[in-house]
Amino acid sequence: PLPVRPPSGCPAGPPPHANLLDRGDPHTAFGALRATEPISKVSLADGSWAWLATRYADIRAILGDTRFSSDPTVPGYPLSGMTGGGNTDNRGFIRRDPPEHTRLRRMVTREFMVKRVEALRPRIQRLTDDLCDAMERTRERTDGPVDLVEALALPVPSLVISLLLGVPYDDHETFQRLTGTLLARAVPDAERAAARDELRDYLDRLVTAKEAAPGDDILGRLITEQQRTGEITHDDVTAFAALLLIAGHETTANMIGLSALTLMRDPEAADRLRRDPALIRGAVEELLRFHSIIRNGPRRAATADIEIDGHLIRAGEGVVVAVASANRDDRVFADADRFDPGRPNAQHHVAFGYGIHQCLGQALARVELQVVIGTLLRRFPAMRPAVPVEEIPFRTDMSIYGCHALPVTW
Ligand code: HEM
Repeated sequence: PLPVRPPSGCPAGPPPHANLLDRGDPHTAFGALRATEPISKVSLADGSWAWLATRYADIRAILGDTRFSSDPTVPGYPLSGMTGGGNTDNRGFIRRDPPEHTRLRRMVTREFMVKRVEALRPRIQRLTDDLCDAMERTRERTDGPVDLVEALALPVPSLVISLLLGVPYDDHETFQRLTGTLLARAVPDAERAAARDELRDYLDRLVTAKEAAPGDDILGRLITEQQRTGEITHDDVTAFAALLLIAGHETTANMIGLSALTLMRDPEAADRLRRDPALIRGAVEELLRFHSIIRNGPRRAATADIEIDGHLIRAGEGVVVAVASANRDDRVFADADRFDPGRPNAQHHVAFGYGIHQCLGQALARVELQVVIGTLLRRFPAMRPAVPVEEIPFRTDMSIYGCHALPVTW
């Protein structure tokens, strides 16, 4: 049952739902809210509250309306429990509004365009094959289970984004550890702040080195084309690096883990995809819809009084836009709680957000998922979890859902 005591500072109105956003499986509660109270109030970890939107139509209305700000310094922005906590200094364009958002995003859009990303497919395939070879060798050597997260799900997107940005992959233990701390919700603020400073210092040194010798990569091009012409500063380049590095590996890594698990547990679907690989594209959209790994956001602050579905959201109030709930809305997706790799409209999901902040890296995420899933189905038809599902450590403690580890055997 949802607790009914409103947190301090909560105005009169329906009681907020405490801890809803801290659950591993929020779908039952989201479903109940969609049916009875689609715009409700939710309490956040620090005792503050925000509006919680759960229906698809309302969520598109909010994300499509730039009067809802992405800027965490705007009054009412619900920061509590967010990635990176209350960090607002030198933030990337994901947390900025137009015109700054437009100006900065435009500097990197072409890097992530479908055509550009499609050209990377053979390279992503080779890299995936190499990691699968290594998995086979590990299995032969140890005869024990292999952790699919460590062996494949994390390295593929990490290697790809390091390569694109021009960040040495040899440093992956550093940036993966720091990103992990930044994304953990249970970590004390001091520890998270220390991780943020360490990542900033690391990227600061990296950008300084690249200023002396910019390579043929995204950070190199930002330096030669934008920084040297005075469009952006050293700190802006560092902010680009932090945003793209964090957004570019944790998200896809978690989708790979959950997708592999889903297909291992649904052999019929896996067989269908193996027999007809042309279906993998659609299946990836369904996996994105079904899992919607961003479970407690995105978030916005209203900069005007705006009516959504009969509720007045006032200027200065925060909104949690539950894309994970929108993707389970039966008004749009028939029998939405069912995983159906052949679902005809799966691609209408909002797992990548909607509106001007819609995921910049979505074409890249799609190619990575298509390649990795296709390869796993082909090369490891007998792969299965090495432990009962209850023993898989799911990321209920993180702001991006997934598995911390996924022991598999075959
Ligand atoms: C934005 C999800 C992979 C880079 C977003 C947003 C979502 C999202 C929901 C919107 C945030 C908002 O509206 O406030 C995902 C998921 C991924 C994924 C589910 C993987 C399955 C990637 C990758 C990159 C990336 C691989 C690579 C660079 C970004 C950036 C933004 C963004 C830069 C900010 C866009 C803006 O504010 O204009 N992502 N993402 N993402 N994502 Fe992704």
